[in-house]
Amino acid sequence: MKMLIRGSRVIDPSCGRDAFCDILIEDGVIAAVGERLPDADAEVLDAAGLVSAPGLVDIHTHVREPGFEAKETIATATTAAARGGVTSMLAMANVSPVTDTPEAVADFYARAAKTAKVRVYTAAAVSRGQRGEEPTDVDALLAAGAAALSDDGVPLMNAALMRRALIAMKPSGLPVLSHSEDGDLVRGGVMNEGALSRRLGYPGRPAVAEELLLVRDAMLARDVDGYVHICHVSTKGSVAYIRQAKAAGIRITAETCPQYFTLTEAEIERQGALAKVNPPLRTQADVDAILDGLRDGTLDCIVTDHAPHTAEEKSRALPEAPSGMVGLETSLALSLTVLHHRLGLPLSFVIDKMSTAPAKLLQLDAGTLRPGAPADLVLFDPQERWTVDPADFASKGRNTPFGGWELTGRVRTTIVDGEIVYTR
Ligand code: DOR
Ligand code: ZN
Repeated sequence: MKMLIRGSRVIDPSCGRDAFCDILIEDGVIAAVGERLPDADAEVLDAAGLVSAPGLVDIHTHVREPGFEAKETIATATTAAARGGVTSMLAMANVSPVTDTPEAVADFYARAAKTAKVRVYTAAAVSRGQRGEEPTDVDALLAAGAAALSDDGVPLMNAALMRRALIAMKPSGLPVLSHSEDGDLVRGGVMNEGALSRRLGYPGRPAVAEELLLVRDAMLARDVDGYVHICHVSTKGSVAYIRQAKAAGIRITAETCPQYFTLTEAEIERQGALAKVNPPLRTQADVDAILDGLRDGTLDCIVTDHAPHTAEEKSRALPEAPSGMVGLETSLALSLTVLHHRLGLPLSFVIDKMSTAPAKLLQLDAGTLRPGAPADLVLFDPQERWTVDPADFASKGRNTPFGGWELTGRVRTTIVDGEIVYTR
């Protein structure tokens, strides 16, 4: 089975390529990338006007299966991923039962083998039941196929457990993914703590809660020469501390999400629970610092933290509504609109942050179009304008604060293992 993607602008940050050429796919892998490749006996996909890039790699998603299938399933999350150009994704362990045993990891992959439309990996929990009390069996979890270790969704307050996890992960070279928010400082908080939360009368989640835990984790990583990755960075202080830690040689990487470089806490007043997320939306100074952090490499990648919830849950009053927003179907377009079209950063910068860099971080066979690599690609029109309509989402979660936004840049075709899994 051969496919020739003809005439697109091929962007592959893994080798610095940005050129108009062809891509030949054979038996599910990239066979060649170059000018005027012969098309004999290949199915030809005319991609003039489009950009072809390695499929996006989203290393922070919540797929809700098993346990919360009313919010999302592996089938619906991966269909949403395909629509968003995401070809590899990492599911967090905060499902029910929590992914904290090799059996639970195996169960996840058995489910995925039946229904997943794109590659989906699972993280395993750092602590049993994500309760922060007893450690999980890291070697057994990795042997079962866990692609990372994280208690994401719940702050891991027990420093001894975090230290132990950092040590246990060292032979793999993989990071512990830290949901950095001090649990005591954020308890009961529903939005960023500051003038706005005081005016609205809501308990807040202060920026220092995020900064405190990430500094602790950076110190622990230095202490044991381990590797920590900071999830969903949202504050100016976090960017500064991560920058310092990197300069000091600590093995630390970090991610942010489109909501943290496009929105501020003001959205809570406009959209209520649709804008409720942990960590919370912050201030314009934070947004500006996140953009600086992306630009100078302090923030390594862009992920979604795709967190679907039901319409009923999100219709509750702010304190009672769960936190989180969906992101798989809007992340590329938001990043292109803001980072490329508005700020003038190159397309290869966006693809690196959303594909090549996260793939490298988790040692996934993805994020590249080098010959021999799996033929996982996204083809998108960087100029197409469209309006976000949550009713169109494949995700069961319609909880986006971006409904009605006009974006520039739209996925046209997504390919996994040489097969078209989405096209429009
Ligand atoms: O807002 C959030 N929602 N933040 C998290 O860390 C977890 C996520 C969820 O699982 O809903
Ligand atoms: Zn989290």
